[in-house]
Amino acid sequence: MYFSLPQTYREAPAEELQERIIEAKRKLGHKLVILAHHYQRLEVVGFGDHVGDSYGLSKVAAEMADVETIVFCGVHFMAESADILSHPNKRVYLPNPLAGCPMADMAEMADVMEAWQRLEEFGGDKKVVPISYMNTSAGLKAFTGRHGGLICTSSNAPAALKWGFDRREKVFFFPDQHLGYNTGIRYGLKPDEMVLWDFSREEGGLTEDQLAKAKLILWKGHCHVHTNFTVEHVAEVRRDYPGVKVVVHPECPHEVVDAADADGSTSFIVEYCANAPTGSTIAIGTEINLTNRMAHEHPDKKIFELSGDTCPVCANMYRTTLNDLAYTLENYADLKPIEVAEPTRGEALVALEKMLEVG
Ligand code: 13P
Ligand code: SF4
Repeated sequence: MYFSLPQTYREAPAEELQERIIEAKRKLGHKLVILAHHYQRLEVVGFGDHVGDSYGLSKVAAEMADVETIVFCGVHFMAESADILSHPNKRVYLPNPLAGCPMADMAEMADVMEAWQRLEEFGGDKKVVPISYMNTSAGLKAFTGRHGGLICTSSNAPAALKWGFDRREKVFFFPDQHLGYNTGIRYGLKPDEMVLWDFSREEGGLTEDQLAKAKLILWKGHCHVHTNFTVEHVAEVRRDYPGVKVVVHPECPHEVVDAADADGSTSFIVEYCANAPTGSTIAIGTEINLTNRMAHEHPDKKIFELSGDTCPVCANMYRTTLNDLAYTLENYADLKPIEVAEPTRGEALVALEKMLEVG
């Protein structure tokens, strides 16, 4: 997809953009809400009416009664989910249409269907429940809804996994292997009860025996930002900063989560920093814009990035600029909203509503 802002918006100075955004917000009043994910640039977060993790922002999208227009400063799967949850009363706009999620792209519909066909030989809908991480296309959320499953986020993954095992013998979890594995361990599964479906290999690279014994079938997807963190990073900060607390996102590999003091969603990390006593030293293992914002918001604490100078940036979250936001707010009537068509929307909604029920 090609996307280019008109030159006047590309070249406008930051101060002018800020004034124009304030004015557009004033004009639209309570009909507009700007949702901003925690990984957005500091200056974009500043314009968020709600700033949150993917679970919290979905909830807001579902609940806001008076709003007609949602401008979602985040990535595509978040705006799609907001559209599904807020339909038909609200229109959702993604200020930078190129903002995707490479991890979500690791689960393609055709590959997932192939895996599910194989899992049908192990009981399909009677024995296996699909749990899709929020970071997926609407089509995969619909697949999950059709097969009695639900959507999870990093904040409700343990409850979602319990929900799945309360209903069926096996859980098919995609696309993030690390969130799935970390949640499986927390639930009490043993490593040999979890297998990894490698979509690049015939039959996922798994034998009949492995699939028959597995309780949790994990998709071989990952987030390149969070797999950046290593146990060596944790060891280094513990050596260099005695008393440091290490808090990471559960998309990190298990050994990193295991070595950390705490792990949780982006909102969990925000609260962890807010609740830490003055003078605390905290190393964060997640996207760098959130870490930098925590350091900025808590000058009474020493907060820094866990992996030293590797710069774990999510380029997709970083795409959205004040220029994009100003352009969207001033021209949204002529722009194409994010729209999920039926029957995908209805089927995905079933799985998303279960996510909200599980909490
Ligand atoms: P949260 O659900 O914790 O906001 O995370 C979303 C995400 O994409 C993390 O990489
Ligand atoms: Fe996707 Fe990773 Fe970016 Fe989150 S941080 S949006 S999982 S690429």
